[in-house]
Amino acid sequence: MKISLHNQTVIITGGNGGIGQVAAELFRSVGAEVFVWDIHFNVQYSEGISAIQVDITQPESIERALSKVLSKTSRVDVLINNAGITRDASLQKMSFRQWQEVIDVNLSGVFNTTKAVSPIMIQQGYGRIINTSSVVAHNGNYGQTNYVASKSGVIGMTKVWARELGKYGINVNTVAPGFIQTAMIDTVPQKVLEQLHQRTSLQRMGQPLDVAKAYLFLASDMAGFISGHTLNVDGGLVL
Ligand code: NAI
Repeated sequence: MKISLHNQTVIITGGNGGIGQVAAELFRSVGAEVFVWDIHFNVQYSEGISAIQVDITQPESIERALSKVLSKTSRVDVLINNAGITRDASLQKMSFRQWQEVIDVNLSGVFNTTKAVSPIMIQQGYGRIINTSSVVAHNGNYGQTNYVASKSGVIGMTKVWARELGKYGINVNTVAPGFIQTAMIDTVPQKVLEQLHQRTSLQRMGQPLDVAKAYLFLASDMAGFISGHTLNVDGGLVL
């Protein structure tokens, strides 16, 4: 069985680089019409991928972006809540601003986009919502009170939405990546990265495509009876 998302509309948040950009290209390669939502853009995409500037912390900004999508296509089949930020500091050093910024993007942003897009999926009686957590939501991580709180919240929201939206033919799942080679881990010290590498069963860093493929699996026909699940994509880091 070959995966095809021909004639499907996919929104991917946070696609200016990293996992989201690779996911946009992967989804396009299987025939989807892709809309990337990001707060800023400095990358080029293949034909068939549209970039729309949006701040997911602002519901009005999301409404404007959604109107642009709906002016081109009448459906939204897949929403991938991929945008996320870090503002790391230990509990004693973390400012309220650092806390709030991460909660605003990683938790409220996911709430805002899903609240805006889900009515369209309900109306069409079909949808796939894929959230992005992190394996640190399972075990905690030094210096990441804000990030771990947000990513744990995403797992919780996924379970609520799976229960609420299942009756409308909407599957809701989460991908929890391990450490993936993107700009996000530029701030992680080399020593820590080497330790993580050693603790990873597959003995390598994750690549954006590893996560993008998990998004595609969950968006595809193959995952038709999977909902409320958190899929670790971490090479066996958390066992
Ligand atoms: P990245 O930093 O390369 O991409 C995140 C994107 O989100 C950026 O393009 C950024 O502009 C966008 N963004 C930030 N604030 C936004 C806002 N208010 N509105 C719209 N877009 C906004 O990060 P990466 O590594 O590709 O991460 C993607 C997702 O995977 C994130 O949710 C991240 O937390 C998660 N993740 C990443 C891991 C890693 O090791 N790279 C590990 C575990 C989870």
